Amino acid sequence: MTDLTAVRSGDRPMRVVVLISGGGSNLAALLNACADDDYPVDVVAVGADRAGAAGIGLASRAAVPTFVEPVGDYLDRAGWDLAITVAVAGHQPDLVISAGFLKLVGPEFLDRFAGRYINTHNSLLPSFPGVHGPRDALAYGVKVAGATLFFVDEGVDTGPIIAQVTVPVLDDDDEESLTERIKVAERKQLVQAVGRLARCGWKIDGRKVLIP
Ligand code: GRF
Repeated sequence: MTDLTAVRSGDRPMRVVVLISGGGSNLAALLNACADDDYPVDVVAVGADRAGAAGIGLASRAAVPTFVEPVGDYLDRAGWDLAITVAVAGHQPDLVISAGFLKLVGPEFLDRFAGRYINTHNSLLPSFPGVHGPRDALAYGVKVAGATLFFVDEGVDTGPIIAQVTVPVLDDDDEESLTERIKVAERKQLVQAVGRLARCGWKIDGRKVLIP
């Protein structure tokens, strides 16, 4: 991912589509922030890969348009990749946010939203990628954990890093307590960083993300 620049004019809110699979507490934090007129972001749609994801109900209650694209509805992964690309593109987002979206998108999506698709992950990357970040961090015995916001590339949790936040690991932590502590910091980071991206734009130069 080299040299991708998004210039923001600031005369309109940044249009954001959020993709979720579950509870959507990160989505809720974004929606709360959007209620403030000074937050320069508009969540224009929320998409999920499964019906019944709690975040879809959250979005509906906030009168945000929703869509659901289960992988199983398509003949193959390429078909799903095209469908989710079209569904997201229909909302003309400036930025797409994966917030607890448990699917890896394919080349069609990555190509269409190159440099405009970000993910929040609950570990300090490049340590502990994958779906069990906090569990793996605990098992390793680390003393700090945290969350990473990054631009998605074709790897698993490997893209250029936008922001990271740390939390302590306590002696009596279990997976649940550490996961919750990370999530509190992660939500705050997401809201702040997305606000900065909206205000300032961004440049991706190799592995480096620059926010002017
Ligand atoms: C977040 O901690 C994210 O890092 C992980 O899944 C969690 C999603 O939480 N991939 P929520 O659905 O936003 O509450």
